[in-house]
Amino acid sequence: MRIPIVAGNWKMNGSASFANEMCQQINAFAADLDVEVVLSPPSVYLAQVQLAAENYSTAAQNVHFAAAGAYTGEVSTAMLRDVGCGYVLIGHSERRAMFAEIQEVLAKKLAAAVEAKLLPILCVGETLEQRQQGQAFAVVKQQLLSAISGLDITADQIVVAYEPIWAIGTGETASPEQAQEMHSYIRTVLAEQISVAMAAKTRILYGGSVNAETASQLFSQPDIDGGLVGGASLKIEDFKNICSAAASQ
Ligand code: PGA
Repeated sequence: MRIPIVAGNWKMNGSASFANEMCQQINAFAADLDVEVVLSPPSVYLAQVQLAAENYSTAAQNVHFAAAGAYTGEVSTAMLRDVGCGYVLIGHSERRAMFAEIQEVLAKKLAAAVEAKLLPILCVGETLEQRQQGQAFAVVKQQLLSAISGLDITADQIVVAYEPIWAIGTGETASPEQAQEMHSYIRTVLAEQISVAMAAKTRILYGGSVNAETASQLFSQPDIDGGLVGGASLKIEDFKNICSAAASQ
């Protein structure tokens, strides 16, 4: 019922020739795959990657909430739509931690994306310390609610990505049980806040050191609808294997 998504977040990696190679390989590979493949290159390569797209979509790694104006270094939702981009990552933990993206700003970005008919992939997740102190569920709920409250959204207007910060780029993946527990909780929060029907249809991705070995166990959990993949999305064979794992669930 929920078509899985595998999104490759290249972060600040790659080059024009890397992008070119990746586009060709993914177009050929994803032709008959029952999964939405999304590539999220650095913004300078977004138009190039989107222009080459046959069997995948693209996601921006960031967006500004304002329509236009004196915001040096930023891109707008309209610009992303203009180059054919369909998705945007919002609230990635690296942006929250390193670029001071506070929750008020993230809520504005989410609203701007929804308004522009860009599909936001809202990232939420706790630190190791918060998990150890038993605060993981409260933190994730708070991040989710501060982003979506006041928005009347349907399941085809948002994707949620649970990315425990302690698992990002560390090689340490949440166990399938830990991830499932949080995904099911996120669905409960969406059901309470919006509706049971919306919660049942919303895609919730797992992110944090997903690799070709761990992907199928994670994706076979009932509330995990694919992944947001960082490091492994830069290795074409690994990324293909992760996409196949999502498609075969
Ligand atoms: P990782 O990154 O797969 O390298 O842990 C995931 C992410 O940050 O989205």
